[in-house]
Amino acid sequence: MGRHEPVVDWATDFDHTDDAYVADPFTIWNELRNSCPIARTDRYQGAWLPTRHEDIAAIAYDTDRFTSRSVVMSEFRAPVEMAPQGIAPPISSDPPYHKGARRVLLPAFAPQAVDKLEASTRAYCHQLVGALRVEAGDGGVVDAAVGYAQHIPVRVIANMLGLPETDGERFRGFVNHVLEGVDKPMEERALGMMDLFEYLQVQIDDHLANPRDDLISYLLAAELDGSQLDPFQVARTVALLLIAGIDTTWSAIGASLWHLAGNPADRQRLVAEPDLLPTAMEEFLRAYAPVTMARLVREDMDYSGCPMKANDFVLLPFPAANRDPKAFDRADEVIIDREVNRHAAFGLGIHRCAGSHLARMELRVALEVWLAEFPEFELADPAAVRWSAGQVRGPRLLPVRIG
Ligand code: HEM
Repeated sequence: MGRHEPVVDWATDFDHTDDAYVADPFTIWNELRNSCPIARTDRYQGAWLPTRHEDIAAIAYDTDRFTSRSVVMSEFRAPVEMAPQGIAPPISSDPPYHKGARRVLLPAFAPQAVDKLEASTRAYCHQLVGALRVEAGDGGVVDAAVGYAQHIPVRVIANMLGLPETDGERFRGFVNHVLEGVDKPMEERALGMMDLFEYLQVQIDDHLANPRDDLISYLLAAELDGSQLDPFQVARTVALLLIAGIDTTWSAIGASLWHLAGNPADRQRLVAEPDLLPTAMEEFLRAYAPVTMARLVREDMDYSGCPMKANDFVLLPFPAANRDPKAFDRADEVIIDREVNRHAAFGLGIHRCAGSHLARMELRVALEVWLAEFPEFELADPAAVRWSAGQVRGPRLLPVRIG
Protein backbone atom coordinates (compact mmCIF):
# COMPACT_ATOMS: atom_id res chain seq x y z
CA MET A 1 0.00 0.00 0.00
CA GLY A 2 0.97 3.57 -0.48
CA ARG A 3 3.81 2.98 -2.95
CA HIS A 4 1.93 4.72 -5.76
CA GLU A 5 0.06 7.92 -6.51
CA PRO A 6 -3.41 7.92 -4.96
CA VAL A 7 -6.24 7.21 -7.39
CA VAL A 8 -8.38 10.17 -8.41
CA ASP A 9 -10.40 8.69 -11.26
CA TRP A 10 -11.42 5.06 -10.79
CA ALA A 11 -12.77 4.64 -14.32
CA THR A 12 -9.54 5.60 -16.09
CA ASP A 13 -6.76 5.13 -13.52
CA PHE A 14 -7.76 2.41 -11.05
CA ASP A 15 -5.34 0.70 -8.67
CA HIS A 16 -6.51 -2.23 -6.56
CA THR A 17 -3.80 -1.58 -3.96
CA ASP A 18 -4.99 1.98 -3.30
CA ASP A 19 -5.98 2.62 0.31
CA ALA A 20 -9.53 3.56 -0.72
CA TYR A 21 -9.98 0.26 -2.60
CA VAL A 22 -8.55 -1.72 0.29
CA ALA A 23 -10.89 -0.03 2.77
CA ASP A 24 -14.07 -0.25 0.69
CA PRO A 25 -14.02 -1.75 -2.81
CA PHE A 26 -17.80 -2.22 -2.78
CA THR A 27 -18.66 1.43 -3.32
CA ILE A 28 -16.07 1.68 -6.09
CA TRP A 29 -17.46 -1.40 -7.89
CA ASN A 30 -21.04 -0.16 -7.53
CA GLU A 31 -20.18 3.24 -8.99
CA LEU A 32 -18.17 1.72 -11.84
CA ARG A 33 -20.86 -0.86 -12.58
CA ASN A 34 -23.42 1.90 -13.01
CA SER A 35 -21.26 4.25 -15.01
CA CYS A 36 -18.39 2.57 -16.79
CA PRO A 37 -18.63 -0.58 -16.40
CA ILE A 38 -15.10 -1.79 -17.37
CA ALA A 39 -12.45 0.43 -15.80
CA ARG A 40 -9.01 1.03 -17.30
CA THR A 41 -5.59 1.93 -15.93
CA ASP A 42 -2.16 2.58 -17.41
CA ARG A 43 -0.61 1.40 -14.16
CA TYR A 44 0.90 -2.10 -14.17
CA GLN A 45 1.67 -1.41 -17.86
CA GLY A 46 -2.02 -1.48 -18.72
CA ALA A 47 -4.98 -3.23 -17.14
CA TRP A 48 -8.79 -3.48 -17.12
CA LEU A 49 -11.35 -4.02 -14.37
CA PRO A 50 -14.78 -5.37 -15.33
CA THR A 51 -17.38 -4.96 -12.59
CA ARG A 52 -20.51 -6.68 -13.94
CA HIS A 53 -21.17 -10.37 -13.30
CA GLU A 54 -21.88 -10.80 -17.00
CA ASP A 55 -18.45 -9.53 -18.13
CA ILE A 56 -16.50 -11.25 -15.35
CA ALA A 57 -18.12 -14.58 -16.22
CA ALA A 58 -17.66 -14.10 -19.97
CA ILE A 59 -13.94 -13.36 -19.57
CA ALA A 60 -13.39 -16.20 -17.08
CA TYR A 61 -14.92 -18.66 -19.56
CA ASP A 62 -13.10 -17.23 -22.58
CA THR A 63 -9.78 -19.06 -22.46
CA ASP A 64 -9.22 -18.40 -26.17
CA ARG A 65 -8.86 -14.65 -25.84
CA PHE A 66 -7.64 -14.45 -22.24
CA THR A 67 -4.72 -16.46 -20.86
CA SER A 68 -3.98 -17.44 -17.25
CA ARG A 69 -0.22 -17.13 -17.84
CA SER A 70 -0.12 -14.44 -15.12
CA VAL A 71 -2.92 -14.42 -12.56
CA VAL A 72 -1.42 -11.96 -10.08
CA MET A 73 -1.28 -8.43 -11.44
CA SER A 74 2.02 -6.61 -10.99
CA GLU A 75 4.64 -5.08 -13.30
CA PHE A 76 5.74 -8.63 -14.11
CA ARG A 77 4.18 -10.77 -16.85
CA ALA A 78 5.19 -14.39 -17.28
CA PRO A 79 6.88 -14.71 -20.69
CA VAL A 80 4.89 -16.31 -23.52
CA GLU A 81 7.34 -19.24 -23.57
CA MET A 82 6.00 -20.30 -20.18
CA ALA A 83 2.61 -21.13 -21.70
CA PRO A 84 0.70 -23.39 -21.55
CA GLN A 85 2.02 -24.48 -18.10
CA GLY A 86 2.72 -21.08 -16.62
CA ILE A 87 4.45 -20.46 -13.32
CA ALA A 88 2.18 -22.41 -10.98
CA PRO A 89 0.10 -25.13 -12.68
CA PRO A 90 -2.84 -25.53 -12.91
CA ILE A 91 -3.90 -21.97 -11.98
CA SER A 92 -1.44 -20.48 -14.48
CA SER A 93 -2.08 -23.08 -17.19
CA ASP A 94 -4.14 -22.81 -20.35
CA PRO A 95 -5.93 -25.55 -22.28
CA PRO A 96 -5.19 -28.20 -23.24
CA TYR A 97 -2.38 -28.57 -20.66
CA HIS A 98 -4.55 -27.27 -17.81
CA LYS A 99 -6.90 -30.26 -17.71
CA GLY A 100 -4.22 -32.84 -16.86
CA ALA A 101 -2.43 -30.58 -14.38
CA ARG A 102 -5.71 -30.04 -12.55
CA ARG A 103 -6.73 -33.71 -12.68
CA VAL A 104 -3.53 -34.70 -10.87
CA LEU A 105 -4.60 -32.58 -7.89
CA LEU A 106 -8.28 -33.41 -7.64
CA PRO A 107 -8.13 -36.71 -5.66
CA ALA A 108 -6.31 -34.96 -2.79
CA PHE A 109 -9.10 -32.38 -2.53
CA ALA A 110 -12.12 -34.65 -3.11
CA PRO A 111 -14.86 -34.64 -0.41
CA GLN A 112 -13.82 -38.05 0.99
CA ALA A 113 -10.19 -36.94 1.34
CA VAL A 114 -11.25 -33.69 2.99
CA ASP A 115 -13.58 -35.51 5.43
CA LYS A 116 -10.53 -37.25 6.85
CA LEU A 117 -9.01 -33.90 7.79
CA GLU A 118 -12.01 -32.62 9.72
CA ALA A 119 -11.25 -34.16 13.14
CA SER A 120 -7.70 -32.81 13.27
CA THR A 121 -8.84 -29.39 12.03
CA ARG A 122 -11.50 -29.28 14.74
CA ALA A 123 -9.00 -30.31 17.42
CA TYR A 124 -6.63 -27.57 16.28
CA CYS A 125 -9.41 -24.94 16.34
CA HIS A 126 -10.27 -26.03 19.91
CA GLN A 127 -6.63 -25.63 20.86
CA LEU A 128 -6.60 -22.09 19.41
CA VAL A 129 -9.81 -20.91 21.10
CA GLY A 130 -8.62 -22.49 24.36
CA ALA A 131 -5.45 -20.42 24.20
CA LEU A 132 -7.43 -17.27 23.37
CA ARG A 133 -9.78 -17.88 26.30
CA VAL A 134 -6.82 -18.05 28.65
CA GLU A 135 -5.18 -15.01 27.04
CA ALA A 136 -8.25 -12.80 27.34
CA GLY A 137 -10.20 -14.07 30.34
CA ASP A 138 -13.86 -13.03 30.44
CA GLY A 139 -14.57 -9.75 28.72
CA GLY A 140 -11.04 -9.40 27.35
CA VAL A 141 -9.89 -8.50 23.87
CA VAL A 142 -8.28 -10.98 21.45
CA ASP A 143 -7.38 -10.70 17.78
CA ALA A 144 -9.58 -13.09 15.79
CA ALA A 145 -7.36 -12.77 12.70
CA VAL A 146 -3.93 -12.93 14.33
CA GLY A 147 -4.84 -15.40 17.07
CA TYR A 148 -7.25 -17.60 15.12
CA ALA A 149 -8.08 -17.25 11.40
CA GLN A 150 -4.52 -17.01 10.12
CA HIS A 151 -3.37 -20.22 11.81
CA ILE A 152 -6.03 -22.68 10.63
CA PRO A 153 -5.29 -22.97 6.90
CA VAL A 154 -1.54 -22.84 7.52
CA ARG A 155 -1.71 -25.86 9.81
CA VAL A 156 -4.06 -27.79 7.49
CA ILE A 157 -2.06 -27.26 4.30
CA ALA A 158 1.32 -27.83 6.01
CA ASN A 159 0.09 -31.20 7.26
CA MET A 160 -1.40 -32.14 3.90
CA LEU A 161 1.74 -31.25 1.98
CA GLY A 162 4.13 -32.65 4.55
CA LEU A 163 5.84 -29.36 5.48
CA PRO A 164 6.93 -28.52 9.04
CA GLU A 165 4.05 -26.96 11.03
CA THR A 166 6.61 -24.75 12.72
CA ASP A 167 7.28 -22.92 9.42
CA GLY A 168 3.85 -21.23 9.51
CA GLU A 169 5.29 -17.75 9.91
CA ARG A 170 7.50 -18.29 6.85
CA PHE A 171 4.50 -19.42 4.78
CA ARG A 172 2.59 -16.30 5.73
CA GLY A 173 5.65 -14.28 4.71
CA PHE A 174 5.64 -15.94 1.26
CA VAL A 175 1.91 -15.32 0.86
CA ASN A 176 2.28 -11.72 1.89
CA HIS A 177 5.08 -11.23 -0.59
CA VAL A 178 3.37 -12.87 -3.57
CA LEU A 179 -0.08 -11.40 -3.06
CA GLU A 180 0.35 -8.14 -1.22
CA GLY A 181 3.73 -6.98 -2.47
CA VAL A 182 2.51 -6.48 -6.03
CA ASP A 183 3.57 -2.87 -6.31
CA LYS A 184 7.10 -3.49 -5.04
CA PRO A 185 9.99 -3.10 -7.49
CA MET A 186 10.50 -6.10 -9.79
CA GLU A 187 13.92 -7.00 -8.31
CA GLU A 188 12.48 -7.15 -4.81
CA ARG A 189 9.62 -9.37 -6.01
CA ALA A 190 12.03 -11.67 -7.82
CA LEU A 191 14.14 -12.08 -4.66
CA GLY A 192 11.05 -13.01 -2.66
CA MET A 193 10.10 -15.64 -5.23
CA MET A 194 13.61 -17.08 -5.11
CA ASP A 195 13.28 -17.38 -1.36
CA LEU A 196 10.05 -19.35 -1.75
CA PHE A 197 11.50 -21.71 -4.35
CA GLU A 198 14.74 -22.25 -2.43
CA TYR A 199 12.66 -23.24 0.59
CA LEU A 200 10.55 -25.63 -1.50
CA GLN A 201 13.61 -27.13 -3.19
CA VAL A 202 14.98 -28.24 0.19
CA GLN A 203 11.63 -29.75 1.16
CA ILE A 204 11.24 -31.54 -2.15
CA ASP A 205 14.78 -32.95 -2.05
CA ASP A 206 13.99 -34.27 1.40
CA HIS A 207 10.79 -35.92 0.13
CA LEU A 208 12.69 -37.45 -2.80
CA ALA A 209 15.18 -38.96 -0.36
CA ASN A 210 12.53 -39.96 2.19
CA PRO A 211 9.14 -40.50 0.52
CA ARG A 212 6.17 -40.47 2.92
CA ASP A 213 2.39 -40.42 2.98
CA ASP A 214 1.72 -36.80 2.10
CA LEU A 215 0.78 -34.62 -0.85
CA ILE A 216 4.34 -33.73 -1.87
CA SER A 217 5.33 -37.41 -2.12
CA TYR A 218 2.06 -38.13 -3.95
CA LEU A 219 2.81 -35.39 -6.49
CA LEU A 220 6.41 -36.55 -6.95
CA ALA A 221 5.09 -39.98 -7.88
CA ALA A 222 2.19 -38.70 -10.01
CA GLU A 223 2.07 -38.99 -13.78
CA LEU A 224 0.85 -36.47 -16.30
CA ASP A 225 0.38 -37.55 -19.93
CA GLY A 226 2.31 -40.77 -19.25
CA SER A 227 5.38 -39.25 -17.60
CA GLN A 228 6.21 -38.54 -14.01
CA LEU A 229 5.97 -34.91 -12.90
CA ASP A 230 9.42 -33.38 -12.67
CA PRO A 231 10.42 -32.02 -9.25
CA PHE A 232 10.42 -28.43 -10.48
CA GLN A 233 6.84 -28.72 -11.65
CA VAL A 234 5.95 -30.23 -8.28
CA ALA A 235 7.62 -27.25 -6.60
CA ARG A 236 5.56 -24.85 -8.68
CA THR A 237 2.30 -26.63 -7.86
CA VAL A 238 3.22 -26.78 -4.17
CA ALA A 239 3.92 -23.04 -4.29
CA LEU A 240 0.41 -22.57 -5.68
CA LEU A 241 -1.17 -24.70 -2.95
CA LEU A 242 0.69 -22.84 -0.25
CA ILE A 243 -0.39 -19.47 -1.58
CA ALA A 244 -3.91 -20.44 -2.70
CA GLY A 245 -4.63 -22.49 0.38
CA ILE A 246 -3.60 -20.06 3.08
CA ASP A 247 -4.53 -16.46 2.43
CA THR A 248 -7.90 -17.27 0.89
CA THR A 249 -9.32 -19.35 3.73
CA TRP A 250 -7.76 -17.16 6.39
CA SER A 251 -9.56 -14.22 4.74
CA ALA A 252 -12.88 -16.06 4.52
CA ILE A 253 -12.79 -17.08 8.19
CA GLY A 254 -11.75 -13.58 9.25
CA ALA A 255 -14.39 -11.80 7.15
CA SER A 256 -17.13 -14.08 8.50
CA LEU A 257 -16.06 -13.39 12.09
CA TRP A 258 -15.85 -9.68 11.31
CA HIS A 259 -19.44 -9.76 10.05
CA LEU A 260 -20.68 -11.65 13.10
CA ALA A 261 -18.81 -9.33 15.46
CA GLY A 262 -20.56 -6.33 13.94
CA ASN A 263 -24.02 -7.87 13.46
CA PRO A 264 -25.32 -9.20 16.76
CA ALA A 265 -28.68 -10.34 15.32
CA ASP A 266 -26.94 -12.67 12.83
CA ARG A 267 -24.54 -13.91 15.50
CA GLN A 268 -27.36 -14.66 17.97
CA ARG A 269 -29.37 -16.42 15.28
CA LEU A 270 -26.44 -18.67 14.31
CA VAL A 271 -25.78 -19.52 17.95
CA ALA A 272 -29.47 -20.42 18.38
CA GLU A 273 -29.73 -22.23 15.02
CA PRO A 274 -26.39 -23.92 14.31
CA ASP A 275 -27.96 -25.87 11.43
CA LEU A 276 -28.14 -22.60 9.54
CA LEU A 277 -24.37 -22.30 9.47
CA PRO A 278 -23.75 -24.00 6.08
CA THR A 279 -26.26 -21.64 4.45
CA ALA A 280 -24.90 -18.58 6.27
CA MET A 281 -21.38 -19.56 5.30
CA GLU A 282 -22.27 -19.47 1.60
CA GLU A 283 -23.64 -15.99 2.13
CA PHE A 284 -20.41 -14.87 3.82
CA LEU A 285 -18.51 -16.34 0.88
CA ARG A 286 -20.72 -14.44 -1.53
CA ALA A 287 -20.76 -11.11 0.26
CA TYR A 288 -17.10 -11.11 1.34
CA ALA A 289 -15.59 -13.25 -1.42
CA PRO A 290 -11.87 -12.87 -0.85
CA VAL A 291 -10.38 -13.72 -4.24
CA THR A 292 -9.85 -11.62 -7.38
CA MET A 293 -7.80 -13.29 -10.13
CA ALA A 294 -6.21 -11.85 -13.24
CA ARG A 295 -5.84 -12.79 -16.89
CA LEU A 296 -3.69 -11.46 -19.71
CA VAL A 297 -5.17 -10.41 -23.03
CA ARG A 298 -3.75 -12.67 -25.76
CA GLU A 299 -4.00 -10.35 -28.77
CA ASP A 300 -5.11 -6.81 -29.48
CA MET A 301 -8.89 -6.75 -29.68
CA ASP A 302 -12.02 -4.82 -28.96
CA TYR A 303 -13.85 -6.27 -25.98
CA SER A 304 -17.24 -4.74 -25.39
CA GLY A 305 -16.03 -1.38 -26.69
CA CYS A 306 -12.71 -1.55 -24.79
CA PRO A 307 -9.57 -1.42 -26.96
CA MET A 308 -7.63 -4.17 -25.15
CA LYS A 309 -3.98 -4.67 -26.12
CA ALA A 310 -2.00 -7.91 -26.04
CA ASN A 311 -0.51 -8.40 -22.56
CA ASP A 312 -2.88 -6.00 -20.82
CA PHE A 313 -3.98 -7.43 -17.50
CA VAL A 314 -7.66 -7.97 -16.80
CA LEU A 315 -8.65 -8.31 -13.16
CA LEU A 316 -11.56 -10.64 -12.49
CA PRO A 317 -13.10 -9.36 -9.25
CA PHE A 318 -15.32 -12.35 -8.41
CA PRO A 319 -16.38 -10.42 -5.28
CA ALA A 320 -17.78 -7.65 -7.52
CA ALA A 321 -19.69 -10.25 -9.57
CA ASN A 322 -21.22 -11.42 -6.29
CA ARG A 323 -22.47 -7.89 -5.56
CA ASP A 324 -24.07 -7.30 -8.96
CA PRO A 325 -27.79 -6.58 -8.45
CA LYS A 326 -28.49 -8.08 -11.88
CA ALA A 327 -27.19 -11.43 -10.60
CA PHE A 328 -28.36 -11.34 -6.95
CA ASP A 329 -31.42 -10.00 -5.22
CA ARG A 330 -30.52 -7.37 -2.60
CA ALA A 331 -26.91 -7.94 -3.60
CA ASP A 332 -25.42 -5.55 -1.05
CA GLU A 333 -27.24 -7.07 1.91
CA VAL A 334 -25.98 -10.03 3.91
CA ILE A 335 -28.92 -12.41 4.25
CA ILE A 336 -27.75 -15.40 6.25
CA ASP A 337 -30.66 -17.63 5.19
CA ARG A 338 -30.43 -16.71 1.49
CA GLU A 339 -31.73 -19.77 -0.34
CA VAL A 340 -30.59 -19.31 -3.92
CA ASN A 341 -26.91 -18.45 -3.87
CA ARG A 342 -24.93 -19.42 -6.94
CA HIS A 343 -22.05 -17.17 -5.98
CA ALA A 344 -18.73 -16.87 -7.80
CA ALA A 345 -16.43 -16.81 -4.75
CA PHE A 346 -14.64 -19.92 -5.99
CA GLY A 347 -14.34 -18.58 -9.53
CA LEU A 348 -16.04 -19.45 -12.80
CA GLY A 349 -14.98 -21.69 -15.66
CA ILE A 350 -12.15 -24.19 -15.96
CA HIS A 351 -10.07 -22.72 -13.11
CA ARG A 352 -12.86 -22.93 -10.54
CA CYS A 353 -11.25 -23.55 -7.15
CA ALA A 354 -9.89 -27.07 -6.79
CA GLY A 355 -9.74 -26.63 -3.02
CA SER A 356 -13.36 -25.57 -2.45
CA HIS A 357 -14.33 -28.65 -0.36
CA LEU A 358 -11.32 -28.12 1.84
CA ALA A 359 -12.00 -24.39 2.15
CA ARG A 360 -15.64 -25.02 3.07
CA MET A 361 -14.68 -27.62 5.66
CA GLU A 362 -12.14 -25.28 7.26
CA LEU A 363 -14.56 -22.35 7.27
CA ARG A 364 -17.44 -24.39 8.75
CA VAL A 365 -15.32 -25.99 11.46
CA ALA A 366 -13.60 -22.70 12.32
CA LEU A 367 -16.96 -20.93 12.74
CA GLU A 368 -18.58 -23.82 14.64
CA VAL A 369 -15.75 -24.01 17.16
CA TRP A 370 -15.51 -20.24 17.56
CA LEU A 371 -19.27 -19.77 18.09
CA ALA A 372 -19.43 -22.65 20.58
CA GLU A 373 -16.60 -21.13 22.63
CA PHE A 374 -17.44 -17.47 22.15
CA PRO A 375 -21.20 -17.14 21.55
CA GLU A 376 -20.86 -13.47 22.45
CA PHE A 377 -18.25 -11.21 20.88
CA GLU A 378 -18.12 -7.78 19.31
CA LEU A 379 -15.65 -5.53 17.54
CA ALA A 380 -13.38 -4.08 20.22
CA ASP A 381 -12.33 -1.15 18.07
CA PRO A 382 -13.81 -0.98 14.53
CA ALA A 383 -11.16 1.55 13.48
CA ALA A 384 -8.37 -0.89 14.36
CA VAL A 385 -9.53 -3.51 11.83
CA ARG A 386 -7.03 -3.78 8.92
CA TRP A 387 -7.85 -5.38 5.57
CA SER A 388 -5.23 -6.86 3.26
CA ALA A 389 -4.30 -5.15 0.00
CA GLY A 390 -4.09 -6.83 -3.38
CA GLN A 391 -6.11 -9.63 -4.90
CA VAL A 392 -7.05 -11.51 -1.74
CA ARG A 393 -9.12 -9.48 0.69
CA GLY A 394 -9.63 -10.28 4.35
CA PRO A 395 -9.05 -8.80 7.80
CA ARG A 396 -5.46 -9.00 8.97
CA LEU A 397 -6.10 -7.25 12.31
CA LEU A 398 -9.43 -8.00 13.95
CA PRO A 399 -9.59 -7.14 17.65
CA VAL A 400 -12.77 -8.48 19.26
CA ARG A 401 -14.06 -8.34 22.81
CA ILE A 402 -15.28 -11.72 23.93
CA GLY A 403 -18.07 -12.26 26.44
C1 HEM B 1 -12.35 -19.56 0.90
C2 HEM B 1 -11.23 -20.02 0.38
C3 HEM B 1 -10.93 -20.02 -1.09
C4 HEM B 1 -11.39 -19.20 -2.08
C5 HEM B 1 -12.40 -18.06 -1.96
C6 HEM B 1 -10.75 -19.61 -3.31
C7 HEM B 1 -10.99 -19.02 -4.55
C8 HEM B 1 -10.45 -19.46 -5.73
C9 HEM B 1 -10.72 -18.88 -7.02
C10 HEM B 1 -11.59 -17.64 -7.25
C11 HEM B 1 -10.07 -19.59 -7.95
C12 HEM B 1 -10.11 -19.37 -9.46
C13 HEM B 1 -8.87 -18.75 -9.99
C14 HEM B 1 -8.96 -18.29 -11.44
O1 HEM B 1 -10.03 -18.27 -12.04
O2 HEM B 1 -7.90 -17.92 -11.97
C15 HEM B 1 -9.33 -20.63 -7.26
C16 HEM B 1 -8.52 -21.57 -7.87
C17 HEM B 1 -7.81 -22.51 -7.17
N1 HEM B 1 -7.82 -22.74 -5.82
FE1 HEM B 1 -8.94 -21.79 -4.44
N2 HEM B 1 -9.93 -20.66 -3.05
C18 HEM B 1 -9.99 -20.95 -1.71
C19 HEM B 1 -9.30 -21.93 -1.03
C20 HEM B 1 -8.45 -22.84 -1.62
C21 HEM B 1 -7.76 -23.89 -0.92
C22 HEM B 1 -7.89 -24.19 0.58
C23 HEM B 1 -6.99 -24.54 -1.84
C24 HEM B 1 -6.06 -25.70 -1.67
C25 HEM B 1 -5.19 -25.81 -0.76
C26 HEM B 1 -7.22 -23.91 -3.12
C27 HEM B 1 -6.65 -24.30 -4.31
C28 HEM B 1 -6.95 -23.78 -5.54
C29 HEM B 1 -6.36 -24.25 -6.79
C30 HEM B 1 -5.37 -25.39 -6.94
C31 HEM B 1 -6.89 -23.45 -7.80
C32 HEM B 1 -6.57 -23.54 -9.29
C33 HEM B 1 -7.56 -24.43 -10.01
C34 HEM B 1 -7.34 -24.48 -11.52
O3 HEM B 1 -6.61 -23.65 -12.05
O4 HEM B 1 -7.88 -25.39 -12.14
N3 HEM B 1 -8.11 -22.88 -2.94
N4 HEM B 1 -9.60 -20.53 -5.90
